[in-house]
Amino acid sequence: MPLALVRDPREMRIVSEKLRRDGRRIAFVPTMGYLHQGHVSLLDAGRRRGDELVLSIFVNPLQFGPGEDLARYPRDLDGDLAKARAAGVDLAFVPDEGAIYGRPPLTSVRVAGLTDGMCGPRRPGHFDGVATVVTKLFHLVQPHVAIFGEKDFQQLAVIRRLVEDLDLDVEIVGMPIVREPDGLAMSSRNAYLAPEERRDALSLFRALAAAEARFKAGERDAARLVAAARAELPPAGRVDYVELRDAASLKAVDTIAAPAVLALAVFIGKTRLIDNRVLRP
Ligand code: PAJ
Repeated sequence: MPLALVRDPREMRIVSEKLRRDGRRIAFVPTMGYLHQGHVSLLDAGRRRGDELVLSIFVNPLQFGPGEDLARYPRDLDGDLAKARAAGVDLAFVPDEGAIYGRPPLTSVRVAGLTDGMCGPRRPGHFDGVATVVTKLFHLVQPHVAIFGEKDFQQLAVIRRLVEDLDLDVEIVGMPIVREPDGLAMSSRNAYLAPEERRDALSLFRALAAAEARFKAGERDAARLVAAARAELPPAGRVDYVELRDAASLKAVDTIAAPAVLALAVFIGKTRLIDNRVLRP
């Protein structure tokens, strides 16, 4: 089957309604494009879970703060469509900004609590922008199942809670982080890194590995695990945060007694990278 390209949100909805009437199970992978193996792993999971695989590519202005990288966010539609085709995508939904936000929206979807820590306070409005656009995309694509990456651990938690709180009829599936051979988590933003920055970027992985080694050796104290991670990272000024939080509630923990996520965000040059690892006692 050739890949269908749909740009008009109204057409997207009509196609989805027909698929549903025909009894097809729709699997959906929302992205901002510039696809890499991490995205492809979500598409593979989607193909296994549905009859019809829908990919969206939309660089959502609502989730970028002032001074963030909206204008220079990497884009490569032709490359993305080739990868989508290879991954067995049936339909690529690639709306224009004006079609999604005809008028600046007065309505916003906000998931409180889960966004108090980690990236929440450092990127004010970011998760509102994510929750709002994902709600809109769910209404247009009407998926039975949607697949997200654990790379954005907090985003996944926000979306699971949004679906529960608003009774959205979508199954949410989370998939593990896909990494480069040396350990760097794949990210569209890795394209920004100069060669020496690419080397420095490995410190995020080293920090998580160092903390995990201490954890496996029996350390359960959050402050000491965070310190072990920080010791591998660039100077404090470049570190946006290193936090250890309960993996389900995302509340801060002092001692690990249940699965906890060690999450960090670090500036490598101008590029802000995130990574995380779940520690399971
Ligand atoms: P984007 O950064 O393009 O990511 C799309 C999906 O790919 C997300 O679910 C993300 O967690 C997943 N992903 C990214 N890198 C990954 C990796 N290395 N391994 C596994 N999965 C990975 O996340 C967004 O877009 C946007 O916020 C979006 C949900 C599309 C809303 O605009």
